[in-house]
Amino acid sequence: MPVTAITGSASGIGAALSEALTSAGHTVIGIDRANAEINADLATPSGRQAAVASVLERCGGVLDGLVCCAGVGVTAPRSGLIVAVNHFGVSELLDGLFEALQKGHKPAAVVVGSVASVQPGAHELPMVKAMLSGDETRAIELAELQNEPHMAYAGSKYSVTCMARQKAPDWGKLGVRLNVVAPGAVETPLLQASKADPRYGESTRRFVAPLGRGSEPTEVASVIAFLLSEQASFVHGSVLFADGGMDAMVRPNTF
Ligand code: NAI
Repeated sequence: MPVTAITGSASGIGAALSEALTSAGHTVIGIDRANAEINADLATPSGRQAAVASVLERCGGVLDGLVCCAGVGVTAPRSGLIVAVNHFGVSELLDGLFEALQKGHKPAAVVVGSVASVQPGAHELPMVKAMLSGDETRAIELAELQNEPHMAYAGSKYSVTCMARQKAPDWGKLGVRLNVVAPGAVETPLLQASKADPRYGESTRRFVAPLGRGSEPTEVASVIAFLLSEQASFVHGSVLFADGGMDAMVRPNTF
């Protein structure tokens, strides 16, 4: 049965996915700050390296699935932390575990992005250029200077989505599928914190999907499970919005 590593496995979408995949027979290697098979801080290069080394040890250098789900939202204590976890906490795991994935059985990876990636202006942020060039110090510095957590969040989700798509041609040739899922509002502790935040609470509560509600973590988990599965064997380099129609509502003619 597949061996699948999941970051952010201790809460929300990652926890729902860990449960679903475990029930489906996967051996799940969860990675989180605490309460996971591997406890590591993905905000730091040393934490990421330790996480990669521990995954490789546990899977014997052969991995069938990887889901980069760990992330922090707009209530993170610093904008730089958003960049560190949401972009570099993904890119370094993808790079560090690629060889193990290549050796896996019909391997696939999924990055958890966000509908926030399509926020106007996100693609033009200088911090995005720094993230995509791999300059973490500069990206964090720019995010701290701008000091607008919602833009750091949107920028980090835009850049991580671009990064995954940029890798897709090479990864595809080497037999590893890579896709992005872009959730809208998901009823998790991350969203609850945004809804309760004095700066972002009202706008978060007001931005409701056409389906009229936020999603349950299990509804996003099932989309990720699909992208990992054989049923998605020709889906590669895609961004799958699982957002109740939010993206269609704000950008009907862009896809
Ligand atoms: P959550 O807060 O329930 O779970 C996130 C997990 O990531 C937590 O277990 C947390 O400990 C872990 N994490 C955060 N920083 C970490 C670090 N430095 N090192 C290791 N682990 C770390 O949130 P949720 O909603 O399940 O978020 C999962 C992903 O979904 C995130 O990437 C988030 O940006 C994304 N997302 C969430 C949406 C929502 O409305 N909840 C909407 C769109 C995207």
